[in-house]
Amino acid sequence: MFNILILQGPNLNRLGKREPGHYGTKTLDEIHGEIEMLAKQEGFLPVFFQSNHEGAIVDRIHAAGEDGTHGAIANLGAYTHTSIAIRDAFLSVDLPVVEVHLSNVHRRESFRATSLLSDIALGTIGGFGPVVYRLGILGLLDALQRRSPGSPLK
Ligand code: DQA
Repeated sequence: MFNILILQGPNLNRLGKREPGHYGTKTLDEIHGEIEMLAKQEGFLPVFFQSNHEGAIVDRIHAAGEDGTHGAIANLGAYTHTSIAIRDAFLSVDLPVVEVHLSNVHRRESFRATSLLSDIALGTIGGFGPVVYRLGILGLLDALQRRSPGSPLK
């Protein structure tokens, strides 16, 4: 069974109240509940982590690199566009990551079109609201299942 880290960055704890035109009305707990249901269907173990603090996210990625986590789904929020530290954290561990965004960042302010994660991620999914987590997880599971034993997935 794959252990999958669901990593949620700054301000995502405000989902449900925050800019519903961009992010919809589901809360983070509701989204995580849907992921729990998907986990039962698909047979993986989700571990949820949300932080508004860059260093805490860096620490959590380091921990995931050592604790048997097989892969990560990351919505880094605004840190997507700014954080070299989080990029370097992913580069420091053998942890395949899929980048997700609720909104289509390419239809918004130009600064959101830059991602410091995309080129080191397995893939990026955005613009479909909470279903991006399901799509990202299915892609990650497929890649993990196809990985030949012992070979890194980057
Ligand atoms: C986001 C997009 C980011 O630009 C923004 O800063 C967020 C949320 C999204 O899920 O659409 O906080 O990652």
